[in-house]
Amino acid sequence: MANKSTDVCPYQWAWTLDNWVRRLLQNPYKIVRDYVKEGQTVLDLGCGPGFFSLPMATLVGEKGKVISVDVQDEMLQILKNKSELKGLNSRIVLHKAQPEKLGISEMVDFALAFYMVHEVPDKKSFLGEVASHLKPDGNFLIVEPKFHVSKSDFDSTLEVARSVGLEQVSKPRISFDRAVLLKPASRKIA
Ligand SMILES: C[S@@+](CC[C@H](N)C(=O)[O-])C[C@H]1O[C@@H](n2cnc3c(N)ncnc32)[C@H](O)[C@@H]1O
Repeated sequence: MANKSTDVCPYQWAWTLDNWVRRLLQNPYKIVRDYVKEGQTVLDLGCGPGFFSLPMATLVGEKGKVISVDVQDEMLQILKNKSELKGLNSRIVLHKAQPEKLGISEMVDFALAFYMVHEVPDKKSFLGEVASHLKPDGNFLIVEPKFHVSKSDFDSTLEVARSVGLEQVSKPRISFDRAVLLKPASRKIA
């Protein structure tokens, strides 16, 4: 069942998501470098202006690919402009999703949902769709802001994640945030 409708972060606020202050507080390379390797296909869910898509495009290298997904054309356009300026556009596939349907077709090694799950209207359908696109050895990192998402709301998201076949690997420490690394439940933890 869908949760109550949620607002998305408007594209006019894109600058608040990609600036030097945030980079100082939340180094995007440091946050994803343990999970993103050369040659991989990775998914940036709710990519916004690309604070994580661009570093991940560097980490996957020339043979890798970042699928950057957002519901707002304007966010995708901002990312397109930046990726062209940085010469990373050939590694980034821009994908427009619907609020209730991601609509991606590829299997991925890593998926990131940074500050976006609380904006998704139907979490069960969303998490189920992500789970179905994770490779057997893939990982999925969900990060939510403490100032916006309570512990009980985050725990509810975890419950939903379990119900669609995802299992907790760890709870990475990220300043100001609640984070969980998930994997397909069918895979044994090494
Ligand atoms: C707060 S921003 C975070 C952007 C980026 N992840 C970051 O950390 O800088 C949330 C983004 O998720 C997008 N979004 C919200 N609901 C979505 C959905 N159902 N599917 C894909 N993107 C969505 C919004 O348009 C917005 O760009």
